[in-house]
Amino acid sequence: MSGDAGRPGAGGPEIESPETAVPEAAKPATPETEGLEIRGLEVRYGPVRALRGVDLTVPRGAVAAVLGANGAGKTTLLRAVSGTLRFHRGAITAGTITFGGARVDGAPAAEVVRRGVVQVPEGRRVFARMTVAENLRAGALAVPGRRAAAARERVLELFPVLAERAHQRAGLLSGGEQQMLAIGRALMAGPSLLLLDEPTLGLAPMMAARIADTVRRINAQGTSVLLVEQNAAMALALAERAYVLEVGELALSGPAAELAASDEVRRRYLGVGAPDTDRPVGTGLEERAERTRPARWTA
Ligand SMILES: Nc1ncnc2c1ncn2[C@@H]1O[C@H](COP(=O)(O)OP(=O)(O)OP(=O)(O)O)[C@@H](O)[C@H]1O
Ligand SMILES: [Mg+2]
Repeated sequence: MSGDAGRPGAGGPEIESPETAVPEAAKPATPETEGLEIRGLEVRYGPVRALRGVDLTVPRGAVAAVLGANGAGKTTLLRAVSGTLRFHRGAITAGTITFGGARVDGAPAAEVVRRGVVQVPEGRRVFARMTVAENLRAGALAVPGRRAAAARERVLELFPVLAERAHQRAGLLSGGEQQMLAIGRALMAGPSLLLLDEPTLGLAPMMAARIADTVRRINAQGTSVLLVEQNAAMALALAERAYVLEVGELALSGPAAELAASDEVRRRYLGVGAPDTDRPVGTGLEERAERTRPARWTA
């Protein structure tokens, strides 16, 4: 697959291509570059290459979104950052990941958490047989008592329902409540960067909107967010920057507002343009099936 095949041509939207970006090494360290910096990332699962040449930045305090169809490599990207690839027989085979100015690629998952990066896995995995309170405690195992208490207070303020259900088994919560618990558990570690993998998938529009609002609040409290979403409308509304992955490569990147305005993104990811799809976007699930068809990005 050619590296250029997936990028917009001259007639496409004016979106920064990875090649034209100023090399990060040439820039002085600023709060911008103290965030998450991914350069030239390649990931393989054995013989299968899942990501190639991915460059991505989440400035400190920002929300960045990653869009893409099923199998594009979104989850793989988050696993590479959180150091959990090895649990899936995957490995970083090229490129670098730095956070807060220090390399984290190759660091064990627990070390990445200590550095302040915490992932909420896809499929809102909670410990179903444990209570809500026990799930939250599990998220703070490596956190000193006083900080854990403060984190718990913050989580219960964000999600009052988790206080009401503290002694209920997590498996009995609704899908939306389980997603809140999964996010709450991640927040217990006091992350400075939260990695969210499709937090609204399968949720009713109202619950998805609540989760979106929560992401906004978490970010307003100072936590950066790298958000993987199939709900492109929601993700582009939340994020400052957005990236589109296609079959393991970056097809587009740029300010979220620019991507949201581009015809290709509107047509392919926001379902706008065709007479029967020009409607308010709901959960994004209705576009999902359509986007699973293999297709190249052409301007
Ligand atoms: N543990 C694994 N072993 C082998 N291949 C894998 C593994 N996990 C993912 N892959 C492959 O890597 C590619 C990217 O998968 P990934 O799960 O990152 O995609 P995704 O964008 O998160 O998709 P989805 O929207 O369905 O969650 C796919 O081709 C997938 O089959
Ligand atoms: Mg995924």
